[in-house]
Amino acid sequence: MVKEIQPDFKDKTALITGGARNIGLTVARDLAARGVSVALADICQDLETVPYPLSSSDDLEKSVAELSSAGVKAIGLRCDVRDEHQVSETVERVIDEFGKLDILVNNAGVVSLFSIAKLTETAWNEVLDVCLKGTFFCCKYAVPQMVKQHYGKVVNISSVAGLRGLGLSVHYAAAKHGIIGLTKALAMEVAEHNINVNAICPGTVESPMLEGLASQIDLEKDAYEHFSQKHLFQEKRITPQDIANAVRWLASDESRFLTGTVLTVDAGWTAGG
Ligand SMILES: NC(=O)c1ccc[n+]([C@@H]2O[C@H](COP(=O)([O-])OP(=O)(O)OC[C@H]3O[C@@H](n4cnc5c(N)ncnc54)[C@H](O)[C@@H]3O)[C@@H](O)[C@H]2O)c1
Repeated sequence: MVKEIQPDFKDKTALITGGARNIGLTVARDLAARGVSVALADICQDLETVPYPLSSSDDLEKSVAELSSAGVKAIGLRCDVRDEHQVSETVERVIDEFGKLDILVNNAGVVSLFSIAKLTETAWNEVLDVCLKGTFFCCKYAVPQMVKQHYGKVVNISSVAGLRGLGLSVHYAAAKHGIIGLTKALAMEVAEHNINVNAICPGTVESPMLEGLASQIDLEKDAYEHFSQKHLFQEKRITPQDIANAVRWLASDESRFLTGTVLTVDAGWTAGG
């Protein structure tokens, strides 16, 4: 007899970085709707070379209030994932509040557009440090707890830029390719502890990030249309919910034999090479 494995999020807990808005917040709403206690970690300040505002403390508070008002256990933690000490304290707080940490979603990320000659060390560092070093720090402090529990799901948000080059973004491509390497290596290291580590590569998703890029190149037309020209499905837009659906599946026990893999949610962008 075939026994279906249903995703069971009862009593599970999650830490979502960059959780104050957009993809991170949608992931949090989606998991919370299934009973997961969620901790949102966000930087709540802008970065010098990132051409759009990041989330504010207000955004974080509102997001936590929204989740809490739906009857879910939710906390908001101000944390810059580039800072090892802040990450270690954040993971500790989550374990103190919730008693354990089952799901880590490394979603915090920033992007900017510069040709190689104009790419400053600061711009390089901001993108690499948020996307890649932040993912490393969060894994470094969350994984030992998951080992203790003999259970854990790590979902790293990479990008199509983790699979191929995109214009004016060697730093972003380096960071997002790096996340895929980290994902595979960590998956091998922790599989014996019943910890799954996977990555998701979204195509273009409507977001403040996209609007920021559009303003950096003085784009006047619809930013989504411009940045999604390589999508095969042109008439449908990828939404944060599409990414949250993939995260939920990777965080569930239905995908228990997936580890070290990359799930591409790009409307066929990379299907054409
Ligand atoms: N939007 C897209 O088209 C797209 C495509 C592919 C991949 N992605 C990836 O998806 C993830 C989420 O993107 P989004 O579109 O929701 O962007 P977004 O800018 O709307 O959200 C990113 C969140 O991360 C937070 N953040 C930034 N730096 C941080 C730091 N140092 N520490 C903690 N939090 C920090 C921001 O404040 C913000 O709340 C990112 O990793 C991004 O690279 C996005």
